[in-house]
Amino acid sequence: MTEKYLIANWKMQLDKEQAIQQASLLAKLLSEEKISKDLRVVLCPDFIALSEVADIIKGSKIALGAQDGFYEEAGAFTSQVSMRQIKEAACQFVILGHSERRKLGESDEIINKKIKAALEQGLVPIVCVGETFDERKEGQQDLVIMHQIYEALKNIKPKPDQKIIIAYEPVWVIGTGQAIGIADAFYAASLIQQSLLDSLPDHDKKYCGVIYGGSVNSSNINDFVDLPNIQGALVGNASLDAQEFFTIIKKIK
Ligand code: PGA
Repeated sequence: MTEKYLIANWKMQLDKEQAIQQASLLAKLLSEEKISKDLRVVLCPDFIALSEVADIIKGSKIALGAQDGFYEEAGAFTSQVSMRQIKEAACQFVILGHSERRKLGESDEIINKKIKAALEQGLVPIVCVGETFDERKEGQQDLVIMHQIYEALKNIKPKPDQKIIIAYEPVWVIGTGQAIGIADAFYAASLIQQSLLDSLPDHDKKYCGVIYGGSVNSSNINDFVDLPNIQGALVGNASLDAQEFFTIIKKIK
C-alpha cells in the first residue's frame, strides 16, 4: 500500500455538538495546510453524528468512516445499521472487530460476515486484531493474532482492487497512554502481513495495509508510521481534540 492512513476512532466519547465542533475545526485546519497526497485522514464518529460530520467534511481532505456495521442488508434487525446504510451516509470506511466490541461478545464469525458485507458495499474494512495482556503473558499473542486474521478473512474474496486494512491493536495498551514498543509493533505487523498472504493468496498486496492502534499521540506517531511495514494509525483519545489530531497529521510526511 502506498497510502498512509490516519483514522480517528471517536468511540462514544463526544456529544453531537462536540463532534460538530471538532470536525469543523479539523476541516478548517486542514484546508490551510498542505498534507502529503498519499495521506488519507478518516473520521469515525458515532452513528448519531455521522450525517452532520459528513456535511461538514464534504469537499475537504477528510473521509468518513463508521465504527461498526451489520452484515444483513435490510430487514427486521432492531438497532442495527447495515453496510448499505453506512454507505448511504457517505462513509467509505468501517471499523470492524474492535476489541471493545469483541469484549461485548462479537465473535470471529460475526466479524467475518461483516467484512463480507462491507466489501459487497464497496466499503474499506478496517479490521482490528490484537492480544490481551493475559494472552501476551502466556506467550499466545502470535497465535491469537493469526487466528483472528484467518477467521476474519475466511472465504473472503475481495474484488481485485478492493482495499483491506488490518489494525494491530494490542488490547492492553488501548487508552492507557502507553503505546507498545517499536520492535513489538514491527514484529506484529510482519506477522499480520504473512497472515494476510496466507488468507488472501490471490489478492494484490498493494491493496492490503497494516496500521497500528493503541495510545498513539503526536509524540509517538512517527515511531510507528516510519516503520516500513506500518501504513498508519488508528487513533482513539488523541483524535478527540482536533488540534492534537492535526499535530499528528502534520507529522506524516
Ligand atoms: P487509544 O484508542 O488511541 O485511545 O488507545 C485506540 C483504539 O481503541 O482504537
